[in-house]
Amino acid sequence: MPADRFVDQLNLQIGHEFAAHQQYVACAAYYDLLTMPQMAGFFYAQAMEERGHAMMMVQYLIDQDAQVRIPGVAAPQSEFADVVAPVELALDQERRVTAQINELTKIAREEYDFASDQFMQWFIKEQVEEVATMSDLVTVVRRSRDNIEAIEDYIQREQKGEAADPSAPAIAGG
Ligand SMILES: [Fe+2]
Ligand SMILES: [Fe+2]
Repeated sequence: MPADRFVDQLNLQIGHEFAAHQQYVACAAYYDLLTMPQMAGFFYAQAMEERGHAMMMVQYLIDQDAQVRIPGVAAPQSEFADVVAPVELALDQERRVTAQINELTKIAREEYDFASDQFMQWFIKEQVEEVATMSDLVTVVRRSRDNIEAIEDYIQREQKGEAADPSAPAIAGG
């Protein structure tokens, strides 16, 4: 069995991942309304990744015979000052999640919960990628804030979506 402290914190993290999903849907809808299909598609895909993270955590708890407690989530931000704001918010969110993932890993180690420590390793790598992706995107969107087509071209050129990762943890419900 995983450590109780880890189980409690991982259940909270499921809420953070679903909150990230909701936030990215809100970002995607904002860009879709501006007729920026590339940025909208990018955020719809990010939203699905966040849902995937939550469902990996659900599957892990089930595999470990631990209690699953799906948290409620606060409403995301849906209105933005300009095309830069959603990406800045996304970068802040990814940095916050990185700190949460690190804290979960720390708890697993403090509790000598080696299986949970190992489970967290994939998320550590994932957060490095997500922070790097959003950080690059903040740079591009700030530079091209008055040239929406340049932003759209960048996404089409540089963000082709990720291939399936065979090392990724299993997702509850397939
Ligand atoms: Fe995530
Ligand atoms: Fe993320």
